[in-house]
Amino acid sequence: PSAVIHTATVSAPTNIACIKYWGKASSQYNAPINDSLSLTLDQSDLRAVTTASASSSFTQDKLWLNGKEVDLKSNASTWKRFRACVDGVRACAGPKLDPHNNNTILVDNEEWKSMHVHIASYNTFPTAAGLASSAAGYAALVASLVQLFHATESYPGQFSTIARQGSGSACRSLYGGFVAWRSGGKLADWSDSRAEQIVDEHYWKDIRALILVVSDKQKDTSSTAGMENSVATSQLLKYRASTVVPSRMEQIEQAIHDKDFETFAKLTMMDSNQFHATCMDTYPPIFYMNDVSKSIVSMIHAYNEWAGEIRAAYTFDAGPNAVLYTLEVYEVELLALVLRYYPEVGDGYVNNDEKRLEAAAFE
Ligand code: PMV
Repeated sequence: PSAVIHTATVSAPTNIACIKYWGKASSQYNAPINDSLSLTLDQSDLRAVTTASASSSFTQDKLWLNGKEVDLKSNASTWKRFRACVDGVRACAGPKLDPHNNNTILVDNEEWKSMHVHIASYNTFPTAAGLASSAAGYAALVASLVQLFHATESYPGQFSTIARQGSGSACRSLYGGFVAWRSGGKLADWSDSRAEQIVDEHYWKDIRALILVVSDKQKDTSSTAGMENSVATSQLLKYRASTVVPSRMEQIEQAIHDKDFETFAKLTMMDSNQFHATCMDTYPPIFYMNDVSKSIVSMIHAYNEWAGEIRAAYTFDAGPNAVLYTLEVYEVELLALVLRYYPEVGDGYVNNDEKRLEAAAFE
């Protein structure tokens, strides 16, 4: 019957990279110049919640973000990303069966293709403030479409290759725990540019991520524009992609397997610093960190020096907000330190824990 509306709702968390993705090898396929690695913040409040629906009564595809309809076709890049996700998952569609009626087919693979979709998505945190909201957003979009269309992968990681075309970092949010994104490039269609779980969310249970919201304003330079300029002008980025990241990936994967926090933390801080150095090396330079961000860097180094060991690491994405990684034993100590120096500090979101600090964002 034409009036039936099929729906699926999922939520997906953001992920925060320890080894950063910065630079596209193919803008057409949204594939990177280097591997990257992140932790999925699967118990945090930083999520996107998305409902996807399909019906033969819909006359066009529509998208709402945080309750506001997006004019899909007014922006060529948004349209391309949206189409890649919807058409990519739909190509993997399977039949919807009726369990109450001997599994008779309610919608077959072909019928899905004749339907338009309506998508409504909410972020539980600031959009485009460099907190990888696009990662959660496109991961939730792809995951909701997978459920809606009863889609199945024909090779491991296929859905991550679709999410990647929405936003690169989104491919890593399809898995929990520590996740690597292998840059790929051996196959002409970049279908080998996929995410792969290193260890699941139960493996290193006492790791914690604390998010310090320095500013929830939209960033000035989008990651796409920033990457384009960096690839075009930064010599340091070439060296980073060819020489630094391959060895760092090996070291950090080993550190994660060994639960060696000090090595993990040092590599995370050094990689954040190098990513921001490539932004500075871009012409004209891009500044994502502000003075508050820089003072957080100093505070963490002073803390580790005082402790005589590395108890915390910072990392910054394409914005001024800090993510601090620590271990459960140091969580209270680190929170006390943060509140001592940043009493205005805001929402601290603690990963792997339902706890959430009450206060307002500082700036
Ligand atoms: O996924 P994008 O296109 O928003 O790029 C994300 C880039 C960084 O967040 C800075 C690094 C990363 O690996 O997540």
